[in-house]
Amino acid sequence: MKKEMVILISLIGFCIASAAETLSVGNLRCEYKTNPLGIDVKQPRLSWQLISSRRNTMQSAYLIRVAASVEDLLANTSVWDSGKITSDQSVHVVYGGPALASRQRVYWQVRVWDDAGKSSSWSDPAYFEMGLLSEADWQAQWIRADLPEDTTKSNPAVMMRKEFQLAKPITSARLYITALGLYEAELNGQRVGDQVFTPGWTSYDHRLQYQTYDVTSLLQQGANAIGVTLGDGWYRGRLAWGNKRNIYGKNTALLAQLEVLFADGGVQRILTDASWKAATGPILLSDIYDGEVYDARLQKPGWSKAGFDDSQWNKVVVFDHPKNILVAAEGLPVRKIQMLKPVKLLITPAGEKVIDMGQNMVGWIRFTVQGEVGDRVRLRHAEVLDKNGNFYTENLRSAKQTIEYHLKGGGIETFEPHFTFQGFRYVAVDEWPGEVKLENFTGVVVHSDFTPTGTFTCSDTMINQLQHNIQWGQKGNFLDVPTDCPQRDERLGWTGDAQVFARTACFNADVAAFYTKWLKDLAADQKESGAVPHVIPNVLNRHDPVKEAASAGWADAAVVVPWIVYLSYGDTRILQQQYPSMKAWVDYMANKAGESYLWTSDFTFGDWLAFATTRSDYPGATTDKDLICQAYFARSTALLLQTAKVLGYQEDAQKYGELLEKIKKAFQDEFLTPNGRIASNTQTAYCLALAFDLFPEGQKKVAAERLAKDVRHFKHLTTGFLGTPLICDVLGQYGYLDEAYMLLTRKQYPSWLYPITRGATTIWERWDGIKADSSFQNAGMNSFNHYAYGAIGEWLYRFVAGIDIDPAQPGYKHILIQPHPLGELSSASACHRSLYGNICCSWVIKETTMTLSVEIPANTRATVRLPQATLADVKESGVPLRRLASMQARQQASDVILTIGSGKYTFRYKMNKS
Ligand code: BGC
Repeated sequence: MKKEMVILISLIGFCIASAAETLSVGNLRCEYKTNPLGIDVKQPRLSWQLISSRRNTMQSAYLIRVAASVEDLLANTSVWDSGKITSDQSVHVVYGGPALASRQRVYWQVRVWDDAGKSSSWSDPAYFEMGLLSEADWQAQWIRADLPEDTTKSNPAVMMRKEFQLAKPITSARLYITALGLYEAELNGQRVGDQVFTPGWTSYDHRLQYQTYDVTSLLQQGANAIGVTLGDGWYRGRLAWGNKRNIYGKNTALLAQLEVLFADGGVQRILTDASWKAATGPILLSDIYDGEVYDARLQKPGWSKAGFDDSQWNKVVVFDHPKNILVAAEGLPVRKIQMLKPVKLLITPAGEKVIDMGQNMVGWIRFTVQGEVGDRVRLRHAEVLDKNGNFYTENLRSAKQTIEYHLKGGGIETFEPHFTFQGFRYVAVDEWPGEVKLENFTGVVVHSDFTPTGTFTCSDTMINQLQHNIQWGQKGNFLDVPTDCPQRDERLGWTGDAQVFARTACFNADVAAFYTKWLKDLAADQKESGAVPHVIPNVLNRHDPVKEAASAGWADAAVVVPWIVYLSYGDTRILQQQYPSMKAWVDYMANKAGESYLWTSDFTFGDWLAFATTRSDYPGATTDKDLICQAYFARSTALLLQTAKVLGYQEDAQKYGELLEKIKKAFQDEFLTPNGRIASNTQTAYCLALAFDLFPEGQKKVAAERLAKDVRHFKHLTTGFLGTPLICDVLGQYGYLDEAYMLLTRKQYPSWLYPITRGATTIWERWDGIKADSSFQNAGMNSFNHYAYGAIGEWLYRFVAGIDIDPAQPGYKHILIQPHPLGELSSASACHRSLYGNICCSWVIKETTMTLSVEIPANTRATVRLPQATLADVKESGVPLRRLASMQARQQASDVILTIGSGKYTFRYKMNKS
C-alpha cells in the first residue's frame, strides 16, 4: 500500500473515531432550578452537565455568556461573558456579570472543553429572571376585607376582586403576589399557575415569600379582572395542639402587584389598594387539620372575569404591614404531583362505606358527583382500619380531616378542597347522593415538587417495600416544610425528625432548594441565645424571644442539615448562609456547659420512642439523656469545625478544634470506663459514641464488639429516633455485617420490616403502631406516616448498594463506590441523579461470581472498591483489569481498589473468601 493511502486510511479512521465521540452540555440550572422566575439571589449560581460518549471525560474549561435575549446571545452581544475559564467546575459557578436589577431577565448558555481539548457546541439557551429586589419595588398596598369575622373559629374564605382595562397590545405580564394566609389567584376566570399552599410556610414575622407568575397568556387587550381567594392556612388557621389559632395574626390579607408591559414599551400596574372589593363565597370553613366545608350554592360564577356585578360586595381596608420581610419564593413549589385511583370499596362491620386508596397518601380526594341542590357529600379520612376492620380516627387526635360539600344540583359537579390537606389511606363516605362508585374518586397526592433522584432495589422484596415506604414518607412529609406527620393535629417542622432524615431525603430527591428555604427560617426563629426551637417555623413559643427550648438531636438540625446539603450538593454557599446560626447553636451549648465542658442542663427528648418493654429482666433501652446531650454537643462542634475549615475561617477552626477536644475529654471522663463500657449500656449509647468518634482509639473495637454482642443478645434493635439511623452503619463500619443484615431483615417487632408484615405502605412513628395482637399503640401518639425511622434509607444507598460521597470533594465530584453484599441478598442496585448526572451501582452475585455495573457521570471520578476480589481475576467488560491502562487498580487485603473516570463499566470476578 502506498504511504499516502496509509495516511488517508488512518486519517479516515481517526475522523470516524472522533466524530463518534460526542460532547455536549445540557441540563442548565440556576439556583438548582430550570429557568426560574422571580429569584432574589443577587449572584445566582449556574450549573450544567456534560454529556459525553467517551469514558474518562473531564471538563477542562468553560465559557458562559449571558445576554438580554436569545437573539443577543446568538449575536454575541452579551451582558456578561465569562471568558474561557480553565476549570473543571460545572456546578454552582457564580454569575460574575454586572449587578442584576429587579425584573431583569437574562438568557445564558455555556460551552465546555474536555480534557482532550475537544469543545462542545453552545448549549441551548436557558434563562433566569429576577424578582422585586427592594422594598421600594412594591407599590401595592396590603388589603384585607372589611367584613365582620369571629376569629375564635374558622371563617368563610374571603374573595377579593378588581377589574381593569388594558388599552394596548400586551407584550408580557407578571403577577407578584403574596398573602397573610394562603391565596389562590385567578385572572379572567383562569387559575394563575399550578401551585397550591402559596405563599408557603415561613417564619412569617421575619420572612414572607411572594411568588412571581408569568401571566401574559391570561390577559387580553380590553377589560380584565383579577380575583383572589384567601384561606386561613398556617397563618391564622388552627395550628399546634390545644386548639390554638391566629398564631401569626388575626386577619387574612393580600398584597398583589400585576405589571403589564405593552408592545409600545409602556407599563401599567394593577395594585392592591382601596379600590378592590371583597366578599365571602362557597368556602365556609377551611383548616389545615380539619378539612373544608364548601357550599356550591354560594359560588359566584364569573367573579374573576370582567363584567361581574360586584355592587353588593364589601370594601377592603388598606393597612400597614411590613414589606421589608418579603422574599422571593426559593423553596420547591407545592403541587398536585400524582393521581391515585382507589383500589377497593369496603363495607365495614360497623356498616360504613369506606374507600381504600391502597396507599397511605397525603393530599385530598377529588370527586365527581351528581345530585339535587342541597344534597351533601361528607368524607372523612383515616390512615388505618382497626382490628375489626372498622374505620379508625382516634390517632388523628383532634384533627377532623373531614370534607363536606353541598351540591348546587343540575349537572355533574367536580370538587377538590383548597386550603387543607389530609393524611389517609381510607375514606369513609358518610354522605353521598346515590350509589358510591370508585370511578368518581381520585386521590390527589400533593407535596413539594422535588425531582426524584434516587432508586434502590434489591433481591429482597420486603426491603424494596421498605424503600417504597420511605419514599412515600418523604412525599407525605415534604409539604413546604419538613414535617413529623401529615395527619393528626400536629404536622409541624420538627427539627429532630428533619435532622435524622435529611441525608436519606437528599438521596431520594433533589431537595437542596427545599432545605435552603427551611434553614433560613430556622436561623430566623433561632433565639438570641442561640437556642433552636423544637419546630421550625416556630409556633410553640414564638412570642417569647427568651424562652429556650433546645433539645439535643433536635436543635442540632441547625448544624447537621446544612452540612448534609453541603455534602450532597457541593453547596458551600449554604454553609456561608447558615454559619452564624450553626455557630450560635454550638456557642449556646458551650455557654451552658461552661468550664465543665459538659452540656447537660437543658430539657431533652432523648432517644425518642426507643424500645420499651415491661419484661422484668430487661426494662427497656433508656439511654442517659446527659450522654445524648454531650454526644450531640461533640457532633455539632465537629461539624462546625469542618465547616470553618471549608470556609477558610482559621481562627474559628482553631477555636472549635480545641473545644471539641475538651468536649470529648469530658465525655470520656463522665461516661466511659477504662475498659470501653459506656455509662448507658445501650445500643444507642454505643452508636452515638462510635459514630461521633468519642471513644479513645484503643477502645473503639471493644466498644463495637459490645454493641454487636448486645444486638446478638436481644436479636433486635432497641434504638429510638437518634440511635436508629446509626446502628446498621456503625455495625457495618466495624465489620459486623451479619448483625446489620439481621436487624435489617428481621420481621418481628421491633424492626423496620415488622410494619410491612402488617401491611404498612409508609413508615410508622412507632415500632409497634399496630401490635402483634392487632391492637393499636396509644392513640395520643401513633402516626402511620412519620419518616424518622425511614432514616435507614441512606444506608441502603450508601452501604448496601454502595454509592457514597467523598467529603473532601462533596456533591459527588469524587464518588466512592463501595458495595457491601450482605447476608442472603443476591443483588442490589441504586441510582442517584447528582448535579453532574446519573450515578449507578448495581451488583449481582450468582453462585460465587460477582457482576458489578457502575455508571459515573462526566466531569467526576470515582474510587471503586470491589469486595472480595483478587486483582488478577477481575475483568471489565471481558478485558482483564491489568490490560486497561486508564484504571489504576490495586489489591487491598481481600478487596480490589481502583479509580475510574466517567462512563459505564461492568466488572466481573469470582469472589474470594475474605
Ligand atoms: C412528634 C415527633 C417529634 C416529637 C418530639 C412528636 O409529637 O411527632 O416526631 O420529634 O414530638 O419528641
